[in-house]
Amino acid sequence: MTQQPDDILALDHLGKTFRVGFWGKKVQAVRDVSLTLKRGESLGYLGPNGSGKTTSIKCILSLIQPTSGKIRLFGADPSDATARARVGYLPEAPYFYDYLKPTEVLDYVGKLYGLDSATRKKRIPYLLDRLGLAHAMDRELRGFSKGMLQRVGIAQSLLSDPDLLIYDEPLSGLDPIGRKEVRELMAELRREGKSMFFSSHVLTDIETLCDAVCILDRGEVVAQGRLSDLLRMDKLESEALVDLPTDGQDAATTRLLAVAGVELMEQTGAMLRLRLPTDAVPGLTAAVVDVHATLRELSQRRESLEELFVQRAVHVSTDGQRTVPASRSA
Ligand SMILES: Nc1ncnc2c1ncn2[C@@H]1O[C@H](COP(=O)(O)OP(=O)(O)O)[C@@H](O)[C@H]1O
Ligand SMILES: [Mg+2]
Repeated sequence: MTQQPDDILALDHLGKTFRVGFWGKKVQAVRDVSLTLKRGESLGYLGPNGSGKTTSIKCILSLIQPTSGKIRLFGADPSDATARARVGYLPEAPYFYDYLKPTEVLDYVGKLYGLDSATRKKRIPYLLDRLGLAHAMDRELRGFSKGMLQRVGIAQSLLSDPDLLIYDEPLSGLDPIGRKEVRELMAELRREGKSMFFSSHVLTDIETLCDAVCILDRGEVVAQGRLSDLLRMDKLESEALVDLPTDGQDAATTRLLAVAGVELMEQTGAMLRLRLPTDAVPGLTAAVVDVHATLRELSQRRESLEELFVQRAVHVSTDGQRTVPASRSA
């Protein structure tokens, strides 16, 4: 066997500009995105709507051409048929004719992938069974729920037993049960060793599914790296609950908040909830003793992915000032 390179996907300063409207106004959908995906890894490509996720995926699949930068897929150009054959793709909103049955859809896609009839006959019932669609394999798609359609989409992405799965928003538009099913299925595929690249604008959904993330905002990368590193990145934070002494509460509060890095989150009567970098804990405990307060509780705060996303999804305005968008919670 030949030695396989470790990087199965590499984007090198990828950029894509569209020209829209009569005047050919430029829309920079993707700007300068670089990333790599190693064999067996799962990468979450995150960002709010319109941030350039689908555009990047289309470039990776050679459905559209990048304006700048380079893409390597299994060490080859994305237009290379051999490289493409190793990818299973689930589009953002898979559309199938609703008079077709799952078996017909899969047979059609199997032919596109060049699978011979014997392989299709074996693989299609196997996949439908695996995806819990065996009971519905000869029913027309028109009666299918969104979750069932998504499973048909996933089944077609697995037909050629690909090494890399590229899923565009696999969890969007599903009800909670559908989300859970698809998430579990993806976790299973990941355990089986498939490499994954999938996009999402719903952060909490993907936290358990990926090793690394790349967060996009308006076409630009605002944070990327291994999830564990990003979540720990600049500050390992702690949270402290402190009971103030009966006397001299104002002075005590001032003294506690003077400890470098300590921030007041909340005050309820004589109780303070403080947030601080973990390396400031010794300073805080010393101050607590000084002012005769009581440290009631000290715990580690783990920055959630959601918080990270909100923090990082800052916009660089025209004067170069970085500003946090007013509302970015949806
Ligand atoms: N074919 C196209 N023509 C013009 N603009 C496009 C086209 N496709 C996407 N865009 C624009 O590019 C930006 C990124 O879109 P998209 O990649 O679909 O984002 P996402 O998938 O993150 O929601 C958006 O501003 C979108 O309007
Ligand atoms: Mg999209």
